[in-house]
Amino acid sequence: MEVLQDVGSEMTPTRPFSAVESAAQELQNCFETLTRSRQVSWQMSYRLLKSLGAGGQGVVYLADRINPHDLSFRLALKFYRPDVYPDVESYRKDMARIARVAMKLARPQQDRLLDVFNVVESGGVQVVPMEWVDGIDLAHLLRPHMLELVREQVDDDRWAHVNDVVVTHAKSQLRLQPGVASAILRDCLVGLASLHREGIVHADIKPGNVMIKRTGTCKLIDFGSAFHVDDLPLRPTWTPRYAAVEVLQGAVPTPVSDLASLGYVFVEMLSGEYSFAEAHAPEELIAAKRQLPDALTTLLPADVAKNRRLLRLVRRLIDPEPARRFPSAEAAELGTDGAAAFQKQLVMGDLSSEYANEIRLLLEKIG
Ligand SMILES: Nc1ncnc2c1ncn2[C@@H]1O[C@H](COP(=O)(O)OP(=O)(O)O)[C@@H](O)[C@H]1O
Ligand SMILES: [Mg+2]
Repeated sequence: MEVLQDVGSEMTPTRPFSAVESAAQELQNCFETLTRSRQVSWQMSYRLLKSLGAGGQGVVYLADRINPHDLSFRLALKFYRPDVYPDVESYRKDMARIARVAMKLARPQQDRLLDVFNVVESGGVQVVPMEWVDGIDLAHLLRPHMLELVREQVDDDRWAHVNDVVVTHAKSQLRLQPGVASAILRDCLVGLASLHREGIVHADIKPGNVMIKRTGTCKLIDFGSAFHVDDLPLRPTWTPRYAAVEVLQGAVPTPVSDLASLGYVFVEMLSGEYSFAEAHAPEELIAAKRQLPDALTTLLPADVAKNRRLLRLVRRLIDPEPARRFPSAEAAELGTDGAAAFQKQLVMGDLSSEYANEIRLLLEKIG
């Protein structure tokens, strides 16, 4: 192509575009086309680095999104498995619900909730790119060998401090000291409160769905069972072990059933064992959950069980009667008898510590 350049009043001789100029023109054309389009699209590639975990609904990989300039962006990819659905149609329908919840979750931008970036599909398989939480889930943190890793690395004074203030051996798992356990509880309550404000019920609160970050704070993850109160799931996907009594009896999960599940997790953190290990059949599980408020004094370590404020807090989370629980996650955190008031008592009793920092230091040792 040739062009004429108008320089002043004189016409300069024509000359062909140089390669550099045509590349610049082509780039500019692309820019114009892109920015004037009503829809744009491009391809995205990810490098799968390692498995972060797997549960009933999917597998999660640590991945790098491959960006231009040889740069990569680290994130997590959750692949939803189809084999737990009776047919393709029900997988598709449930994936659509999960996608709707994921998009609603983008709204609260709450630090205590995992950030979901997008929902994509490959060959019909749903994949959710999301924030990678550098840390460990609570179920893993409570495993006894975690403390062995710490013992190998600290002197006797530090070891005594870790056991007194942070975490110590218990029956089948590790147990967290009340200050640390209630710091985790508070983070989860803040996360739940913002979910509930959006009209979303998590419906699967359990240790494996609470991530403890290296910074020492926690995030709720796994929204595969979550649903908006106006958009109920097709089939129950919650975990019976941590489901509230009324949910086990067939009721649809609610914000206060999330509180009961979180209460069971709190009791597990404090006691160092899963509270209903003896219950197998659904009726046994229901009966054991009904008896839990009375069983607390024997289940919890003696020094923990004598703290009346702590017992009140636990009982108002796990009450078998939903109407007698805290009315909301916010009330459980900030109200009378709530987790914040309990932590204030620790401060007055000089038992406080910078719990998030203690958790951070612990995770540093666990590696
Ligand atoms: N975003 C994430 N960052 C780090 N680890 C994660 C992340 N998401 C999940 N995991 C790990 O993978 C496990 C399984 O993921 P999850 O979403 O709970 O799947 P499932 O629905 O199958 O239970 C979690 O318990 C956690 O250990
Ligand atoms: Mg999970």
